[in-house]
Amino acid sequence: MGSQRIIYMDHSATTFVKPEVLDAMIPYFTEHFGNPSSVYSIARDSKKAIDAARAQTARTLGADPEEIYFTSGGSESDNWAIKGVAFANRKRGNHIITTQIEHHAVLHTCQFLEKEGFEVTYLPVDQYGLVNPRDLETAITDKTILVSIMYANNEIGTIEPVAELGAIARRHKVYFHTDAVQAIGNIPLDVKASNIDLLSLSAHKFYGPKGVGALYIRKGVRIDNLIHGGGQERKRRAGTENIAGIVGLGKAIELVTADIPGHNVRIQALRDRLIHGVREKIPSVRLNGHPEKRLPGNVNMSFEYIEGESMLLWLDDAGICASTGSACTSGSLEPSHVLLATGLPVELSHGSLRLTLGDANTEADVDVVIEVLPKIVTKLREMSPLYKKSGKEGGCNV
Ligand SMILES: Cc1ncc(COP(=O)(O)O)c(C=O)c1O
Repeated sequence: MGSQRIIYMDHSATTFVKPEVLDAMIPYFTEHFGNPSSVYSIARDSKKAIDAARAQTARTLGADPEEIYFTSGGSESDNWAIKGVAFANRKRGNHIITTQIEHHAVLHTCQFLEKEGFEVTYLPVDQYGLVNPRDLETAITDKTILVSIMYANNEIGTIEPVAELGAIARRHKVYFHTDAVQAIGNIPLDVKASNIDLLSLSAHKFYGPKGVGALYIRKGVRIDNLIHGGGQERKRRAGTENIAGIVGLGKAIELVTADIPGHNVRIQALRDRLIHGVREKIPSVRLNGHPEKRLPGNVNMSFEYIEGESMLLWLDDAGICASTGSACTSGSLEPSHVLLATGLPVELSHGSLRLTLGDANTEADVDVVIEVLPKIVTKLREMSPLYKKSGKEGGCNV
């Protein structure tokens, strides 16, 4: 590709680290490298930095600093919330409720717990990926101990009615966990107002470093530890702290939550330009996810008669980074469990493309994609015997 400019449209997979975040982190690799558990002054500097990041994260969520625990990322936070609550509350009941469209960090954790004797209800979603609060209400039994429903979906961007779902769980005295990994920086959050007992987040989704995240645990929630060892994180999460990572998380969360409405106006305008441009130029396209209740930067579309994987290769050739589903499953030829849950036929699930916009993008980037993508789709459709047979050349959008 030589000096070809890269257009990065995969912000839901991960983001670049903002320069201000990196600047804040660097001294904690070199000058302030002390182990926060030690007693000398450079150790105290590390501890102070962790406390500041904890306070910043708490402010963002409307939580108290003592309710924030740093982890290695979204997967650990999800595992801890679900396994921790399940094992600590086993005597009260063995039933967990989640949805069919969760990230695998939640789904595979629930499947693991099923093998341990827990029962899990996987709530369905509608054609847009929305959970119906009435379905939650009817699924709760006297054995239910935990509800885990994501704030916003990583593949189709649909934003769930979390406050309403949280209120239902609270009314039934059932713990409510939400995977907010995709929500931070896009949606203003308030754990108290939304009746959230546990919330997962991950720094690399909001311009922070990889390998660091947090779990909010409301005071009073009964939860077992996941990582056993030393007494870090107030004896709840062992392991010498990833100080630079935690400092980066704190700085990143401060930056991305400083002006969510302003950020959303810009990113949403890019998203809508992309959606309209693609729909105008390419026939037989379907927008997946909710038309309005979706993340500002999420575009997920299905193209009839096309394999998403082939589209990705051609886009990559043109310097455009995109994805077919979640990054963790791209590379597998299984259709997306999220798209299937919305009722999308298998063929259309295979023909899906996710473009997620963020701070790396400009209008010019969007226009390049609007120019390049139709050519790729036309080329791939020309190679498809099914497309020719369908007689849909020049057809309309679905
Ligand atoms: C919704 C959601 N939950 C959890 C994760 C896992 O986060 P991490 O990569 O920090 O382990 C991701 C990452 O793709 C995600 O999108």
